[in-house]
Amino acid sequence: MAEALQHDIVIVGGGGAGLRAVIAAAEAYPGLDIAMVSKVYPMRSHTVSAEGGAAGVIKPNDTLDEHAFDTISGADWLADQDAVELFVREAPRELVQLEHWGCPWSREPDGSVAVRPFGGMKNERTWFAADKTGFHMLHALFQTSLQHTQVKRYDEWFATRLLVEDGRCQGVVAIELRTGQLRAILGKAVIMCTGGGGRIFPFTTNAAIKTGDGLGMAYLAGVPLKDLEFVQYHPTGLPGTGILITEAARGEGGILVNNKGQRYLADYNLGTPLDVGDQRHPQLRSMELGPRDRLSQAFMHEQEKGNVFEGPYGTYVHLDVRHLGENKIDSKIPFVRELAKNYAGIDPVHQPIPVRPVVHYMMGGISTNISAETVLPGLYAAGECACVSINGANRLGSNSLTELLVFGAIAGRNAAEWARSHPGLNRAALERQADVEQQRIAHDLINKHGGTERIATIRTELQLAMESGAGIYRTQSSLQATADKVAELKQRYANITLDDHSLSFNTELTSALELEFMLHIAEALTHSALQRKESRGSHQRTDFPQRDDQHYLRHSLAHHTDAAPRIDYADVAITSWPPGERVYGRAEEPARTPPAAHSGS
Ligand code: FUM
Repeated sequence: MAEALQHDIVIVGGGGAGLRAVIAAAEAYPGLDIAMVSKVYPMRSHTVSAEGGAAGVIKPNDTLDEHAFDTISGADWLADQDAVELFVREAPRELVQLEHWGCPWSREPDGSVAVRPFGGMKNERTWFAADKTGFHMLHALFQTSLQHTQVKRYDEWFATRLLVEDGRCQGVVAIELRTGQLRAILGKAVIMCTGGGGRIFPFTTNAAIKTGDGLGMAYLAGVPLKDLEFVQYHPTGLPGTGILITEAARGEGGILVNNKGQRYLADYNLGTPLDVGDQRHPQLRSMELGPRDRLSQAFMHEQEKGNVFEGPYGTYVHLDVRHLGENKIDSKIPFVRELAKNYAGIDPVHQPIPVRPVVHYMMGGISTNISAETVLPGLYAAGECACVSINGANRLGSNSLTELLVFGAIAGRNAAEWARSHPGLNRAALERQADVEQQRIAHDLINKHGGTERIATIRTELQLAMESGAGIYRTQSSLQATADKVAELKQRYANITLDDHSLSFNTELTSALELEFMLHIAEALTHSALQRKESRGSHQRTDFPQRDDQHYLRHSLAHHTDAAPRIDYADVAITSWPPGERVYGRAEEPARTPPAAHSGS
């Protein structure tokens, strides 16, 4: 194998979290040599497809406590409150900073930053750039990162393994996709910013690149995956493609209607409807602006009652924005119109949009503390691949773009500090490990002949098993069937065959490596869900319909073993808001109590 490449910090992932970490590390210690390894060109990262906005308190009628409380109750009390407090405090600073880096936030007529209502939020606090927020944020971050000449980018390099020596993480092995060459990329600190793994499900808003690689690498290196059973379905995806129709459409006043012409959410304890077209938003957190878990569950009930439409791509309801009028649609949610026209063949100015729940986000991920550190010294994580946790059992829309800024920056600064204060690397030992990885990939994949299993078959069977057993509603037997299926698929994976044995841009090889990670995280997810015998947020067990704080106000931690994953648990940090009922549709005051009385649980 070619000689190892060496830097001070290696950041894996070129999306919002990775770029924010790059900038923070470079600013913290300009002398550090930083590598950013990304399997796609950074501007093609999935952050680019985020639409509706990023949450942060900015208006005088809003408070940090209210943002914290909405996040914590939205999370069904599984969020760590110290992390949430840090998050809401840092959020406005990060969003203003992004403006200074060139993000064109939409404005109010008086020139101040505009905010819109978003699901589960009591106040309007979602900053936006029309409905292409992720695109503009990613641009601002990418162009800012270019100022830092000490950053070496490895675009279109696919990381396959973490290098761990002397008990600390010291780099990654990655394939340069253009040449097929494997190299060790060494660093005293490594930050994973690789996004989630929604592609383990068949119907998702997630780009094809979101295959859980970073989660898989950390898991195989001995880092637990926290709260992986919590998978967010976004209530409004386009049938067929799964393309996101942003929550901003409802924030701006869009309504959900069933096949009887009813605003069915009125039946689901989500408060009373605003009048169609009411622009005052006197009662946020109600009806269409309820939290995503509740809205997606309501769809399932409507389906059971036969109140949904049938179409070529399954059942759906209508998202109606016609009453907003063409001007507002074109100024506030132009991308919704463009997507509906191009991918559903309808113009939302004149027709309702067909929508159904779609897998959107993983609340769980690589377990980190509020400093973005994992239990493996030298390894950090931020963004969707990480679980700090501020999202608990259900993330509120627009918190994740802000999360990747806040914790991307923290990861970058802390990794920089670590890299400065730790000695050199065990180069020879790391190169030997990289050789082993190269041999594994050559022997098990590139040069292997005679296998009988196809990648696409295993991937499709995996996705269907996840959907049928670990979807919006789950039971012991559905989850067990999925766990059995995933175990079977893992065995069959050992017998896959590749038709392409070449090196340059071997996408079949990349798919095979991605599939391995997908199988691992699907197994961890399913076993975490099997053992959580309660219903909380997005994890709804029809055999255990109640939330059970006595036993499960705890984070699950899935550890990789040679057999099934081992699941253990960690306390949730409760600082000021004792567990309570989630109430939507009427004003609810955050009941703050002194920290000492409630720390730990
Ligand atoms: O609907 C949306 O625009 C999604 C936002 C988010 O997931 O935060």
